[in-house]
Formats: sequence, structure tokens, C-alpha cells
Amino acid sequence: MTTVKPSGDKPNLPPTSRLIEVFIMGKSYKVPETLTIQKAIEWAGFQFIRSCGCRGGICGACPTIYRTKDDYKLKVGLACQTVAEDGMYLVQLPFVPVQKAIYNIEEEKATLAAIEKHYPETFRCVQCNTCTKACPMDIEVMQYIAEIIKGDYKKAAELSHSCIMCGMCAARCPAELQQFNVAMFIRRMYGRYVLPKAEHLKNRVEDIEAGKYEPMLDELQQVSSGELVKRYKEREWEPEPYEVPDWKPKDTKYL
Ligand code: SF4
Ligand code: SF4
Ligand code: FES
Repeated sequence: MTTVKPSGDKPNLPPTSRLIEVFIMGKSYKVPETLTIQKAIEWAGFQFIRSCGCRGGICGACPTIYRTKDDYKLKVGLACQTVAEDGMYLVQLPFVPVQKAIYNIEEEKATLAAIEKHYPETFRCVQCNTCTKACPMDIEVMQYIAEIIKGDYKKAAELSHSCIMCGMCAARCPAELQQFNVAMFIRRMYGRYVLPKAEHLKNRVEDIEAGKYEPMLDELQQVSSGELVKRYKEREWEPEPYEVPDWKPKDTKYL
């Protein structure tokens, strides 16, 4: 982060909101209450050049460590989802260092031997549950690690499916596991070797490889930016799936 004029999303504050004191990397700032940590940091004058992505709790870029007033506990949360509190001390983690294994998915299998080879520390888990408590996605992290060790890769893949790779489980783990990376390995193996292939995806890839969309892309590259904006604004919107379960666009030539 660098200090510049406040930027980013402009918060829409209630007129009655009062100022609270937060400590960002040890320095005191007065910010309006009701802001997320992310917006409080921007209000204080910082501009994000990393540790910020989707702003919606999906990308995992904004893990933050903090303590609140009158509580000894070191807490973790996503800056874009956690509301700043009066007296909060906080710092963002730009990255959680891990050693990502390099492997060729075509030469691997979901076996204990493969996990031992790529992520041997997995077996050091002491089942303290700290990772589960740290996870902002409420994932049962300790449980998916237990399923991996047991060999139930389907369960491990399903339990870890919502992982956003924020790294907070790994940052807090006393046994120094890389939970999110070993879970990614298992999901890849499960998707590659166990789950049936999606027929519609296979068809679409074949269409792309056969050049079905090239004329459309070529045509789009020729039109003016004004025409692009017009087409974007006039595009047909897909309804919620539950409203029209068998919906199709009016123009089906690219389906
Ligand atoms: S924090 Fe580490 S040691 Fe504790 S349960 Fe999670 S993976 Fe196991
Ligand atoms: S499992 Fe770990 S990396 Fe994934 S979302 Fe939870 S804390 Fe973040
Ligand atoms: S900015 Fe993407 S999860 Fe917070």
C-alpha cells in the first residue's frame, strides 16, 4: 500500500455515522464507523496496489490479521468483508508463503504416495482445528485434511470446494501445512480422474478449436467503440435459472 489521496469505492455513509479509531500497521487513523476494513484503509489515505481484488469475498486477496479492543485473541478475516471496529489493530497479509508443488496432472494419481511426495507435511496435522476457525469461508479445513489422510478424495474435494486460496489456514497452522494447495491437488485429481466428463463442455471446446467463434470475434474487432457500447447496453439478459429453466437466447447461432 502507498499513501495517496483517498481512492477506490466511495462509501455511502449514513449521515449519523461517527468516527472511530483504527490502528493500521500500528498508526492511528480516524475513520467513519460502518466501513469494512478495506474501505477504512482507503479512507485513511492508502491506495491498494495489492491485497485487494474482487472486493466481494471471492478472490482471497485481502487476508487481514487484527486484534479488537478488550480481547487478547489474534483474529483473521477478509478486509473486504470484515467491518472495522473502534480500537482495532490490523495489518494485511500481502501473501502467505508456500512451496507450490510442480507436477504434470497426466502423470499423477490421487494416492497417499502422491500426497507424501508433493505435500508431505500434510501428515503432520495434529487436529487442533485452528485452520477451521481461521477460515473466512467457514470451510471445515481440519476435516478435509482428515479426509485426505483417510483417502476419501471425493469428500475432501467437496469439503474444500469453496476455498478462495486466501492462505489464512496455512498462516495459522502450528504444523505448517499448506492446506489450500494440497486441497487444490486433490480437486484436480478428482476432476481429472473420477468425475465424469461434462459432455457440453467437451462440445464447446470442440467448437472453439474448430473456429466456430472466429467470425464473431473478427466482426467485433471491426466495429467502433460506440457500437460496442451500444451492443453491450442492448444485450439480452439471461433470467435467473429458476425463473425460466429452459431459457435460450433469441439468437442461437452460436450455441
Ligand atoms: S491448523 Fe494445521 S494442525 Fe491444526 S487441524 Fe488445521 S491442518 Fe491440522
Ligand atoms: S481453506 Fe484456507 S485458503 Fe481456503 S478459504 Fe479457508 S482459510 Fe482460506
Ligand atoms: S478483495 Fe477479494 S476477497 Fe477481499
